[in-house]
Amino acid sequence: MAPVKSPPDRRSVHLPSGIRAQQRAAKATSKPATKSASTTPSVSLRQVGKTYPDGSQALIDVSLELRKGDFLFITGPSGAGKSTLLKLLYGQEKFDSGSLTVGGFNLANLRGNQLALLRRRIGIIFQDYKLIPRRTVAENVAFVLWAQGYNRKEISRRLPPTLKMVGLQHKADCFPSQLSGGEQQRVSIARAVVGMPPLLLADEPTGNLDADNSRQVIRILKKLNSIGITVIVTTHDEHLVRTSNFPVVQLRDGRLYQVRS
Ligand SMILES: Nc1ncnc2c1ncn2[C@@H]1O[C@H](COP(=O)(O)OP(=O)(O)OP(=O)(O)O)[C@@H](O)[C@H]1O
Ligand SMILES: [Mg+2]
Repeated sequence: MAPVKSPPDRRSVHLPSGIRAQQRAAKATSKPATKSASTTPSVSLRQVGKTYPDGSQALIDVSLELRKGDFLFITGPSGAGKSTLLKLLYGQEKFDSGSLTVGGFNLANLRGNQLALLRRRIGIIFQDYKLIPRRTVAENVAFVLWAQGYNRKEISRRLPPTLKMVGLQHKADCFPSQLSGGEQQRVSIARAVVGMPPLLLADEPTGNLDADNSRQVIRILKKLNSIGITVIVTTHDEHLVRTSNFPVVQLRDGRLYQVRS
């Protein structure tokens, strides 16, 4: 799916050096010699079906293809299958039919080390943030790097620019309970991208936020997309979708429909 880019945001978002390196790499790969790399699907679903053990048919014959650097909104009513689709992409749920690949990983029967490797390449943002309450902002973000085996020095190098990117460097030592909802969501974005994943999945990231905070979150996601990160966002917020010109698909009763390409 060819991404249709929004007009550039006027307010700038600071990018950490690691992300800037990725940006340089993304620019480099836009040259013709490496064009084939950007035509490799980043996410590919072919006639995917998912029925939960209790018989709920969450996804029916879903086909979807995204290329590196695409940005896609997935809309649809409650219960339509949006979260289920994202869960299939990071291997949280298994599908029953069709085929699914993400970043070259075939999701059929993916487990153990391979599943862990795939998950390192995906950043995930949830509506309810899922921060660790007894850990500070810095610790919540650092935890991802620590779990991936980074040493203390590398963690201290990566943290400040990532917190700066989401405008929270001054809140590094606060606990989640001391933050507003918008700030907590920005911590969860920092946590999702600090490991530089090529794919970012956001499940209703603005679901608990007011209009201003929603716009801020979407602006950060667009900025991350502009440096080559593939971004998929599920949302109920028709206004957010209308005010951007990224591609949109809709899920209704488990079936996927193209809204805007
Ligand atoms: N763990 C589960 N066990 C059984 N059924 C489930 C499970 N998770 C989701 N479902 C069912 O699958 C369907 C799709 O659910 P899903 O959570 O993907 O919808 P959604 O579009 O994300 O909804 P919402 O907008 O409310 O978050 C629903 O009918 C739901 O009841
Ligand atoms: Mg959901």
